[in-house]
Amino acid sequence: MDKDIKILAIESSCDETAAAVVVNGREVLSNIIASQIDIHEKFGGVVPEVASRKHIEAISAVVQEALDEARVTLDDIDAIGVTYGPGLVGALLVGVQYAKGLAYATKKPLVGVNHIEGHISANVIQYKELEPPFMCLVVSGGHTFIVYMKDHGDFEVMAQTRDDAAGEAFDKVARAIGLGYPGGPKIDKISKQGNADAIKFPKAKFHDVTLDFSFSGVKSSVLNYLNKMKMKNETICVPDVAASFQKAVVSVLVENALEACRIKGVDKIAIAGGVASNSCLRSTMTEEGQKQDIKVLFPEMILCTDNAAMIGSAAYFEFIKGRVSPLTLNAIPNLKLGER
Ligand code: KG4
Ligand code: ZN
Repeated sequence: MDKDIKILAIESSCDETAAAVVVNGREVLSNIIASQIDIHEKFGGVVPEVASRKHIEAISAVVQEALDEARVTLDDIDAIGVTYGPGLVGALLVGVQYAKGLAYATKKPLVGVNHIEGHISANVIQYKELEPPFMCLVVSGGHTFIVYMKDHGDFEVMAQTRDDAAGEAFDKVARAIGLGYPGGPKIDKISKQGNADAIKFPKAKFHDVTLDFSFSGVKSSVLNYLNKMKMKNETICVPDVAASFQKAVVSVLVENALEACRIKGVDKIAIAGGVASNSCLRSTMTEEGQKQDIKVLFPEMILCTDNAAMIGSAAYFEFIKGRVSPLTLNAIPNLKLGER
């Protein structure tokens, strides 16, 4: 394709209102994120109704800032990309309706994007030469997947969680040990002062049957451990609990993801989603990958968390395949990976 394709992308699936301008799926001209974390922190988690209202307040300014920072106007934009699922329905609706309004008013094509595909695409922005096939471990607050990327927008789900998502387990355990929301970064930080071998929490593996994950067991065993210690009136060493829990989660993520690479014979794995920021996951995956000649990739922090640049990247690869959405596009809170 000779002409550059500029996508204005919008993301509002959870508690970040975000907009970005991305060229040809890889070059980020702007990536604006208005986070609501401070508001939800008080409640110990995301309050969906509050999230929707905050998105409404923020979205116009965030989109304008994305255009301004990219030094473009709507006339320069080739298509409008937007996350339409999975996520919180009220939150998604704000972005979807806004994008539809813009597409209608400007007569530009609309491209609905799956949020998880967006997370995967963050690696395509980070690594300009990255081309499929590659494996991707998607670990976020709502999802845990091992995905075999055959081509852009064409993949096979090799494993998923059967209960809690990895990030969800981090958040729940963090709350139980009094660290607050969002738990993942807090567990990551405090674990650095703890002994990861202090407590043996179980790693759920469905031996030889599937690469699927289960994190509710390890979460429950942390809760049982805390109760037992309380009943015995013994002091809980929070850094040790955090580090031991983190090790149990990370080791199963790494083992299964590298096993998926061996099964498919691929030599590179990308990590995506909020939990991809986790320092223990990054270092363990890199070390274990090296031993097996598997290259481990992860995006910079700003591209791990929810952002619109990743949506602009995924939208580009949809757009060049002619996959555009009708103006009847709706938010689909439980949109499956690969569903269109
Ligand atoms: O991808 P994301 O920003 O939103 C969703 O799509 O869910 O992921 C948020 C999740 C939260 O559960 C948060 O606790 C977790 O990512 N997270 C981390 C870290 N940073 C964020 N988990 C572990 N270690 C981190 N450093
Ligand atoms: Zn996300």
